Amino acid sequence: MSEDKKLEKLVSLCKQRGFIFQSSEIYGGLKSAYDFGPLGVELKRNIAAEWWRKMVHEREDIVGLDASIFMHPQVWRTSGHVSNFSDPLVDCLNCKERFRADKAPQVTAGEEVSYHKGGKAKGELLSGKVSDRGYVCPVCGSPELSKERQFNLMFRTSIGPVDPLQSFIDEIEGKAISSQELRAKLEEARNASTIYLRPETAQGIFAQYLNVQQSLSMKVPFGIAQQGKSFRNEIITEKFIFRTCEFEQMEMEYFVEPGTEIDWLQKWLDTRMEWWRGYCNYPENFRTRQHEEDELAHYTNCSFDVEYLYPWGWDELEGVASRTDYDLTKHAEASGVKLSYFDQQKKDPESGKTGWRYTPYVIEPAAGLTRGVLVYLLDAFTEEVSNDEQGNQKKRTLLKLHPRLAPFKAAILPLVKKDGLPEAARDISAKFLSQGIHTRYDEQHSIGKRYARHDEIGTPYCLTIDHQTLEDQTITLRDRDTTKQDRIPVDQAVAMVKARIES
Ligand code: GAP
Repeated sequence: MSEDKKLEKLVSLCKQRGFIFQSSEIYGGLKSAYDFGPLGVELKRNIAAEWWRKMVHEREDIVGLDASIFMHPQVWRTSGHVSNFSDPLVDCLNCKERFRADKAPQVTAGEEVSYHKGGKAKGELLSGKVSDRGYVCPVCGSPELSKERQFNLMFRTSIGPVDPLQSFIDEIEGKAISSQELRAKLEEARNASTIYLRPETAQGIFAQYLNVQQSLSMKVPFGIAQQGKSFRNEIITEKFIFRTCEFEQMEMEYFVEPGTEIDWLQKWLDTRMEWWRGYCNYPENFRTRQHEEDELAHYTNCSFDVEYLYPWGWDELEGVASRTDYDLTKHAEASGVKLSYFDQQKKDPESGKTGWRYTPYVIEPAAGLTRGVLVYLLDAFTEEVSNDEQGNQKKRTLLKLHPRLAPFKAAILPLVKKDGLPEAARDISAKFLSQGIHTRYDEQHSIGKRYARHDEIGTPYCLTIDHQTLEDQTITLRDRDTTKQDRIPVDQAVAMVKARIES
């Protein structure tokens, strides 16, 4: 299966089987906005729950937070997002494509390139020299481009019973003013009530650092973890749910003593790699990559990406950054609130006296949850070709999802819809549900079709209730990956499935 086809097939399976739908599809859809269907929401919640289990519940040094999406606009000025969180935007003067300069195909400055007029295959063949910028339009290959302009990725809206446009109209009505003044007045009216949709969950953590540290008496090193929606007005949304304007993150800020940050960075990089690989089939498709000097964001002195081998090549899945004391220092300066930590036992390295007050350094593993859904779906998507007894080729599509991530842990299947089998199956189903094990009772279509359906949605086990069940209280347990079937006692079914899921 070609890698291009793989993504196409996965997108189609996601729609057909209820994982991911195009947003507002009945109205023609909203570009690059997606809804998680009944199975998608389970998969996403299971990934999030595993992250929370490993990052918060199984550790003493990390606690959780659920900060609001709206924050004081000063947060984003202080963090640098208002002035720095932008992408270089360029318009192609030939085909009108709008694109990110930093993602455009690189071509040596001065090189002569040819392209079709208007970007149309039958358009006149033109040629031109690549400017000093060293790139061309990613769609038509033309070097005829507009100037680069910085485009801020934060979504702005307004809060409170103020209509910024009305304030603006009241302000300018009847006045003859220049377009420059007009713009300034518009900005002024807008800024009075501007509020941003958060572009990362991290700043909510920094703003609450002191409350969390003091309320739970956290001792450095410690972390604050958060999951939630983030919003970025991406110039290019692409590749299914890989890059969308609304997405979910799982971020953790780990506060450490100055001077220990690089050791912690390595520890967290290893921990996060181990976590991603713990639920996959192909660990070799995950790797780490250190950022080059010129890629480093303004707040970091050393950063890595956890990358995955997507159908289009290696690309980012999670960032693990050493954020220094940048955020706490900036927020302390801007708010006037001391965001430091006092260690009673440690000697102050400058004075030599016992008791050291310092601003903690921060290590940040920042993962994309929705991107994680895509990665685990790609990792699990499998097509198997085998021969049946007559020697005919048959194809089986399955999602080899880790049992902890699978939407349903088991399917409960009466062989036929009569002879008391549905009643017996419903009894077994009730036992699973009462234990909080998410299973699916399913009696539609032939048993073969039901196995195929559950293979496609990643259900690790199928339990079939047949006539023998009524005689000897046994059922068959079929394994999704091997298709092997074992006969097991009904009263051990819950315990056996539970043990396999949790192993
Ligand atoms: N607090 C640091 C931060 O937000 P980031 O590298 O910009 O760092 C972290 O984002 C992760 O969030 C990325 O590695 C990616 O998985 C996910 N992410 C970022 N932008 C995204 C988008 N537009 N769509 C989907 N996921 C995105």
